[in-house]
Amino acid sequence: MAAAIEITDLHKTYNGGWSPALDGLSVQVQEGQIMGLLGPNGAGKSTTINILCGLVTPDKGNAKIFGKDCIADTLALRQMIGVVPQQIAMFSNLTAWENFRYIGKLYGLSDKQTKDRTHDLLLRLGLDKHADKRINRYSGGMKRRANIIASLLHQPSLIILDEPTAGVDVQSRAMILNFLKEYNQQGKTIVYTSHLMEEAELICDEVVIIDEGKFVVRGAPKELINNTTDCKRLEDVFLHYTGHSVRD
Ligand SMILES: Nc1ncnc2c1ncn2[C@@H]1O[C@H](COP(=O)(O)OP(=O)(O)OP(=O)(O)O)[C@@H](O)[C@H]1O
Ligand SMILES: [Mg+2]
Repeated sequence: MAAAIEITDLHKTYNGGWSPALDGLSVQVQEGQIMGLLGPNGAGKSTTINILCGLVTPDKGNAKIFGKDCIADTLALRQMIGVVPQQIAMFSNLTAWENFRYIGKLYGLSDKQTKDRTHDLLLRLGLDKHADKRINRYSGGMKRRANIIASLLHQPSLIILDEPTAGVDVQSRAMILNFLKEYNQQGKTIVYTSHLMEEAELICDEVVIIDEGKFVVRGAPKELINNTTDCKRLEDVFLHYTGHSVRD
């Protein structure tokens, strides 16, 4: 399988940052995988995602998606990737449908195309009866699900999700994870971050653990569990490699 993402020796220190957010990170993601990007708070997960979608410029190193440079080829990449940011990125005083129509226009879609594309997504993510309600009336779980739909209108081959299940209830989480599995089965590559290890264990083909901006370990969850002493769950592996101290 070809590489969907190739990250090589990324370095990034933010202005005013007291330590590097990324400190020589290299990671590859194969096409068709569900890859979990895991790490404690401040490990550099969101920074990596923001570099991949061209929002943050690294100090050194490079990142490529389907062979295209994430900084130089941002426009070409925009059609290929869907990004679900850690914060909800929708206009809260507009309805879900108004948000989708606006985003569809940014991608050059007619209202009919946006309607056709959202129809199935709204059903699968349980929002079909709520498209005409304002986002500020949505529950946390509904906002997360709408945020995912918004990132898929242009039918990207790669979807990158930053904590898509943060703060949602068990039902919404199950719906989101099932949806991601199904989306992956259509041949799409998925990169996803979470602090919930049992969730990553359930849906990821592979996980990569990073800490303090550096690569720590990668592998299939089962393989990591079997190969790490006294580990029964992915959470044990995570603690084995990243320790018990709380991050600043
Ligand atoms: N805009 C910014 N300005 C200054 N420092 C930043 C900025 N964004 C992130 N950082 C710092 O960079 C480091 C990596 O942050 P990042 O948000 O990438 O981590 P993360 O792994 O996504 O963490 P979390 O799990 O809490 O979301 C942290 O030390 C953070 O404080
Ligand atoms: Mg983050």
